[in-house]
Amino acid sequence: MSIQNSLKPFKFFVLRPIDIFSPLLRAVLVLFVVASFSLFFYLTFSDQNPTCRGCYDAHRYSNHRKVKAFDAGEQPTNISHLVFGIGGSVKTWNERRHYCELWWKKNVTRGFVWLEEKPEYAWPESSPPYRISADTSKFNYTCWYGFRSAIRVARIIKETYEMGLENVRWFVMGDDDTVFFMENLIDMLGRYDHNQMYYIGANSESVEQDVVHSYAMAYGGGGFAISYPLATVLVQILDGCIDRYAHMYGSDQKIQGCITEIGVPLTKELGFHQLDIRGNPYGILAAHPIAPLVSLHHLDYVQSIFPAMTQPDSLKKLFKAYETDPSRALQHSFCYDTVRNWSVSVSWGYSVQLYPWLVTAKEMETAFLTYQTWKTNSNEPFTFDTQPVSSDPCKRPILYFLNSTERLGSRQWRTLTTYQRYTEEARCDRPDYAPALAVESFNVSAPEFDRRLWNQAPRRQCCNVVHDKNSVDGEVEVHIRDCHLSESVTPPS
Ligand SMILES: *[C@@H]1O[C@H](CO)[C@@H](O)[C@H](O)[C@H]1NC(C)=O
Ligand SMILES: *[C@@H]1O[C@H](CO)[C@@H](O)[C@H](O)[C@H]1NC(C)=O
Ligand SMILES: *[C@@H]1O[C@H](CO)[C@@H](O)[C@H](O)[C@H]1NC(C)=O
Ligand SMILES: *[C@@H]1O[C@H](CO)[C@@H](O)[C@H](O)[C@H]1NC(C)=O
Ligand SMILES: *[C@@H]1O[C@H](CO)[C@@H](O)[C@H](O)[C@H]1NC(C)=O
Ligand SMILES: *[C@@H]1O[C@H](CO)[C@@H](O)[C@H](O)[C@H]1NC(C)=O
Repeated sequence: MSIQNSLKPFKFFVLRPIDIFSPLLRAVLVLFVVASFSLFFYLTFSDQNPTCRGCYDAHRYSNHRKVKAFDAGEQPTNISHLVFGIGGSVKTWNERRHYCELWWKKNVTRGFVWLEEKPEYAWPESSPPYRISADTSKFNYTCWYGFRSAIRVARIIKETYEMGLENVRWFVMGDDDTVFFMENLIDMLGRYDHNQMYYIGANSESVEQDVVHSYAMAYGGGGFAISYPLATVLVQILDGCIDRYAHMYGSDQKIQGCITEIGVPLTKELGFHQLDIRGNPYGILAAHPIAPLVSLHHLDYVQSIFPAMTQPDSLKKLFKAYETDPSRALQHSFCYDTVRNWSVSVSWGYSVQLYPWLVTAKEMETAFLTYQTWKTNSNEPFTFDTQPVSSDPCKRPILYFLNSTERLGSRQWRTLTTYQRYTEEARCDRPDYAPALAVESFNVSAPEFDRRLWNQAPRRQCCNVVHDKNSVDGEVEVHIRDCHLSESVTPPS
């Protein structure tokens, strides 16, 4: 039985004691001591003025770059302008293809799964077409803890480019277990001028991974995009880079090493998710940053997104909500029930958290720590703010998970999503908690998310808890809407 088919219990409270003798912490301590000594000696014995080192020299700076101006008359970027290169393997394709087949639109999405050899089984109808990677035995690979297949995967961009497909604006790279959210990916890429050199993706969530591999690179499993002009330069030097960066572990590191020779930095987009975590991804998904959801990865290595469901079924459920209103997927909204002094945090299409007390927006924004780091299973550090889940059930919110998704109306449509209470093993018995525990479900209505909002300065959307005579017992109704200009989520006093 493969990992994704086994049901693992949903664990909200998971904090582990911090091991102060973990190798990572020890290394950090040693580094700190060394750095403190170096700084001490430098400040004591250096006669240079430290404030002027690396001063900006305005005279040396001139902009000689000539770039093709963003062509206003050009068609907006659509699915036909993207080509995907998926790093696959004949050995694992059948276990993982359900991830790819979820987002791949047969005969619409362009691209290929790249394999190490011809499969001996019939290639599935629903899978993207495959290609066989060229031989890589002449290249060097010297990372003792890695795999030579990294060379083959790094060369996918070159092999795809050299097929000479027409009208390509972006090459998008991903693993066989990367799930892309296509509409959001297209919209996000459409905000960048594809006639310039762009390298777009995101870091690992686990700081230990960024320390070992790089902060400057787009992690391959989260997926990344390279604009056509950048690919044109990259493919000319890539084979040399593969040998120059022979000591590097991953294909994504080799690609970044090469792109930095061109001088192009990573443009970070927070919707790519490498998901270098273990345990329960709940905290990350319920506190998504204000950016469109673009990808998820490593779903075989974390607990199911929804409790009491397999991972493939969970993904289908998330996709159903996603497809109803792609731009709104996982977007956060906070509001207060001013009558009962409750706080509500909605992660649209996924979950609702009900706090039977008033909490600040900052607290609702901060991801619950329901997972550990990728390599050492530690509670920290991550590349974003986290907060522990209290071991006291009276100090944690009540959770609700997506139950149904519906689109109402035709031209100016809205969505209606419902969320059903998740019953934890431990629950709070305090009488003042009882009215909140009596809430069985949330009924959330939202207007269609205007995707053009992503072209503007990002802002979280607002919501109201609705009290009217039609209210049903055990159900709380929430309306999501644009915020008023001067509105803020400030607890009533
Ligand atoms: C995508 O844009 C091109 C123009 O570059 C246009 O010809 C084509 O019809 C569009 N395709 C879709 C699916 O919208
Ligand atoms: C895709 O195209 C092939 C060949 O053009 C065709 O046989 C097949 O039915 C198409 N599949 C879908 C899902 O449209
Ligand atoms: C590969 O490594 C060997 C041993 O370090 C070296 O002699 C050889 O030149 C390298 N090959 C390439 C193509 O860099
Ligand atoms: C869950 O969804 C079903 C429809 O899919 C609906 O009949 C049911 O009332 C919903 N439950 C709650 C608690 O909203
Ligand atoms: C959600 O609330 C609206 C408005 O009160 C109501 O019309 C609708 O039936 C409710 N939907 C569900 C599934 O409870
Ligand atoms: C809500 O909080 C305010 C301010 O803390 C307080 O004055 C009020 O009595 C509370 N209302 C309820 C219903 O608890």
